[in-house]
Amino acid sequence: MGVREAQSEGIRMSGGGLYSLATIGAKDVIDAATPLVLDAIEALPLDSIANGFTLSDMGSADAGTSLNMIGKVIDAVSKRVPSAPVSVVYTDQPRNDFNALITNIYGLGPFETYLDKKDNVYPLVSGTSFYRQIIPSNSLNLGFSATAMHWLSKKSMQYFKPCSCRWCTGYGTKSLSESGI
Ligand SMILES: C[S@@+](CC[C@H](N)C(=O)[O-])C[C@H]1O[C@@H](n2cnc3c(N)ncnc32)[C@H](O)[C@@H]1O
Repeated sequence: MGVREAQSEGIRMSGGGLYSLATIGAKDVIDAATPLVLDAIEALPLDSIANGFTLSDMGSADAGTSLNMIGKVIDAVSKRVPSAPVSVVYTDQPRNDFNALITNIYGLGPFETYLDKKDNVYPLVSGTSFYRQIIPSNSLNLGFSATAMHWLSKKSMQYFKPCSCRWCTGYGTKSLSESGI
């Protein structure tokens, strides 16, 4: 698939930081899903995160809606492995407003950021669509995506748990780790 085909052309969130300010419902969804994310971290084998932990937020828009969730992820990882560096890979389409995303994650906008409270945390940003491989194989511990994958026009990964996308039946089939992804 070509790079251009791999984008949801024309579908973008409001720029300039308006998305998270105007979308409290999306934040509510992420906050409600946070216990599932924390359970997933608890279930990871300790040796898989002993040297560091990488989380991706795919389809992150301006990142404001997931700041609290990611702060809790960092706490959960630090509780298990206090010395583990945490990388947070924010991904969205290349035409996403990444200036607004940077503004939010560095606390230059209206939201509190985990970066003011945590050390050993490394935000990274990618404009690669989730139709393509975003980060190298065997380098992701936990992938997260909220209110974004319903726009996929075809199934691009086999399994999510839990998942509300239209190709999965019920509450997940296999976890990513069970699937070897
Ligand atoms: C409704 S917003 C959700 C933002 C955030 N995850 C949340 O829950 O508040 C959907 C996001 O998915 C992104 N998106 C849509 N198609 C995408 C793709 N193919 N690759 C990466 N991101 C995509 C959009 O650009 C948008 O920022």
